[in-house]
Amino acid sequence: MTRKSIERREFLKQAGAAAAIGFALPASRVLGANDRVRLGIIGAGARGQELMHEFVKVPNAEFVAVADVYTRRHDEAKAIAPGITQAFRDYRRLLDLKEVDAVIVATPLHCHARHFLDTIAAGKDLYSEKTMTWSIAEAETCREAAKRSNRVIGIGLQHQSSGQIADAKQWLNDGIAGKVTQVEAWMSRNSKRGHGQWIRDVPSDCVPANVDWTAFLNGRPARPFDPYKFINWRLFWEFSGGNVTENMVHQIAWIIGALDLPLPAAAYMSGGVFSEKDGREVPDTIAVTLDFPNDLVVTWQSTFSNKRYGLGERFLGSHGTIEHLMGTTDMVTGKAQSGIRYYPEKDNRPDGVALEGQAKAVNHMANFVECVRSRKEPNSPVEIGYRSAVAAHMANLSYRQKQRVTLETAMAGAAGK
Ligand SMILES: NC(=O)c1ccc[n+]([C@@H]2O[C@H](COP(=O)([O-])OP(=O)(O)OC[C@H]3O[C@@H](n4cnc5c(N)ncnc54)[C@H](O)[C@@H]3O)[C@@H](O)[C@H]2O)c1
Repeated sequence: MTRKSIERREFLKQAGAAAAIGFALPASRVLGANDRVRLGIIGAGARGQELMHEFVKVPNAEFVAVADVYTRRHDEAKAIAPGITQAFRDYRRLLDLKEVDAVIVATPLHCHARHFLDTIAAGKDLYSEKTMTWSIAEAETCREAAKRSNRVIGIGLQHQSSGQIADAKQWLNDGIAGKVTQVEAWMSRNSKRGHGQWIRDVPSDCVPANVDWTAFLNGRPARPFDPYKFINWRLFWEFSGGNVTENMVHQIAWIIGALDLPLPAAAYMSGGVFSEKDGREVPDTIAVTLDFPNDLVVTWQSTFSNKRYGLGERFLGSHGTIEHLMGTTDMVTGKAQSGIRYYPEKDNRPDGVALEGQAKAVNHMANFVECVRSRKEPNSPVEIGYRSAVAAHMANLSYRQKQRVTLETAMAGAAGK
C-alpha cells in the first residue's frame, strides 16, 4: 500500500469521526479554580513516562488511569503515579471514564490523529505529543475538529514555554533585528559507531501475549508481530516522519512562533541514510530549505554523526542577529554555549548593544493544567502544532519525491486530488 493511499484512507476514516464532533459532545466536568485535575495517559512509553514525571509535580493534578497496548507500561506508569487505579490495553476504555478530565497522548506518531480525535470527541481536554500528526491530511482533520470543539488542547512543543522564545519575540517586536530574511537552524547528535541513533533494545517480555499488535498497526497492513518495529517504530515511514518530525518540528515551531509565520510556501529536502546503514528508512543526514511568504528562507540541517555544534537557530536581520544555542561547542575555547543573545549589525544600528536573554521559562505542563481550569489557550496551541506539522511533512514529501514541494501541491495531495 502506498503512503498516499494510507493517507487518503486514514483521512476519510478520521474525517468521519471528526464530523461527529460538534453534534454529540459528551458533557464534561466544569472545573473550579481550585479543583483537582484528573489525568489519563495514552501511551506510557519513554516520553509518556517523562511527561508523567513532570505532570505529577504539578500542584493539584493527578493521574487516575493509563492506556497502553503493551502491558509492561501499565506497571511502569503505576510506579510513577500510584494514584492510577485503572489500566487498559484499549484506550477507548480510558476515554469512557467519567473521572478523567484531560488526556496526555504520547503514542507513536502514526497513532496521534486517532487519539487526538477520539479524545476530544469523548469530551476530554488533550495534551498531545508532537508532531501533531503523521500526515498533512490528518493535520487538517485534527485542526478542523479542534476548531469545532470547545476542548482545551495543548501540543507537546515545550519550547513554546521557554524564556528564550519570550526574549526572541520581544526583540523581534522591538524591531532591533530589522528585516529578517533568513533563519538558519541546525541540530546534531552522535553515537558510538555501530550503534545508530534511536536504536532501542527489545525487552524480553515484548511478546505477542503482552502487546496488542493490531492496535499498534492502526490501519497499516496486517502482518505477524514484529517486536523490533514495535519498539523502534521511529525508523520506519509507516509509523514515523524521522528526524524531521522528531526534532526539526520543535525548532520550526519555535521559529514559526517567534516570527508568527504562516505555512511555508515551498519545501526542499535532501539527505540520506549515511551515518549507520542499519536497516532504517528515515534519513539521518538532512538539509531542509523552507520558503516562507514575505521574503524569508529558513534552513535546517542535521546529522547523527557529529554533535559539536549542538542545536540552535540564528535569525539573520538587517539590524541584528538573534542567536539561540543549546550545547554548541565553541571552536576556540572548547566550552559549551547555551542561551539566547542579540548582536547589533553596526551598518544599521551603529549604537546598538549586545543583549542576553533574561526571560524566565513557564512550566509547560503546569500551563496546560492551568488552562484546563481557566479554559484559556495553552502556550503551544493547535495552530502551532498544525503549522509545524505541515512544514515538517512538506519537507519529508520533498525528500521522498526527490523534488521541491509547494504548499499547493502538498495540500492537493493531502486532499487526494
Ligand atoms: N516533546 C518531546 O520533547 C518529545 C521527546 C521524545 C518523544 N516525543 C514524542 O512522544 C511520542 C512517543 O515517543 P516515545 O519515544 O515515548 O515512544 P515509545 O515507543 O517509547 O512509547 C510509545 C508508547 O505507546 C504505546 N502504544 C503504541 N501504540 C499504541 C496504541 N495504539 N494505543 C495505546 N498505546 C500505544 C507503546 O506501547 C509505547 O508504550 C512520539 O510522538 C515522539 O515524537 C516527544
